[in-house]
Amino acid sequence: MPDPTIVILTGAGISAESGLGTFRDEGGLWARHRIEDVATPEGFGRDPDLVHRFYNARRAQAATARPNAAHRALARLQAALPGAVHIVTQNVDGLHEAAGAREVLHMHGRLDRALCGACAHRWPAPAEMHRSDPCPACGAAATRPDVVWFGEMPHGMERIWGLLESASLFVAIGTSGEVYPAAAFVEEARASGADTLELNLEPSSRISEFARARFGPATEVVPAWVEELLAG
Ligand code: OAD
Repeated sequence: MPDPTIVILTGAGISAESGLGTFRDEGGLWARHRIEDVATPEGFGRDPDLVHRFYNARRAQAATARPNAAHRALARLQAALPGAVHIVTQNVDGLHEAAGAREVLHMHGRLDRALCGACAHRWPAPAEMHRSDPCPACGAAATRPDVVWFGEMPHGMERIWGLLESASLFVAIGTSGEVYPAAAFVEEARASGADTLELNLEPSSRISEFARARFGPATEVVPAWVEELLAG
């Protein structure tokens, strides 16, 4: 294989079979919680305790989740093609890393990190986070989860756009394609001449923009695709 650059975007669907809920499927998180209450800076400003309760519960759930065969297959692919496989995730869980993935770009942040709203210092999140927890750097009581809310800039975008420009293959796994900027990655990769593949339970709203697709549970379609790719 001549110097591939494979960019893999993952979404909540890859962690669904590890027991973590998706957002927009029936009974998903956004059917039970209002985005504007728990995933915006304005919501946090109005009711920080509610927002902390929401993320404390998600952190507790993520802490007991185990990576599944799809996470493990991506880690295997990354190890087999050193430097060529870039995992960009919208997920705030740590299941890619728990499966052994090394380079993972968490564009929507991480549940296991805390962020000071006053000085932007970051530190490992306690199991239970509260607004009044003092920042270890500046002492302010402005602690928030280090996750990206609607209206905020996702992390690492310059690096991600650069990777998409040089991608030979872009693969989206378990994401509905409803949230920008991630929803635009397939278009960017295509414009740069990359092959594009969607692996999802069912066609996403971006399906017409992908050259190829395979549908089924991530724990089946992802390991099968990785095996084929490595078999060459
Ligand atoms: P969504 O809940 O929008 O989409 C989940 C996708 O996973 C859907 O396309 C499902 O069909 C698919 N899916 C469900 N179970 C699956 C399985 N077992 N195997 C494979 N695919 C499966 O989640 P995301 O696209 O990740 O952002 O959502 C994107 C962003 O919206 C999240 O990062 C979050 C949310 O609001 C913020 O909170 C900023």
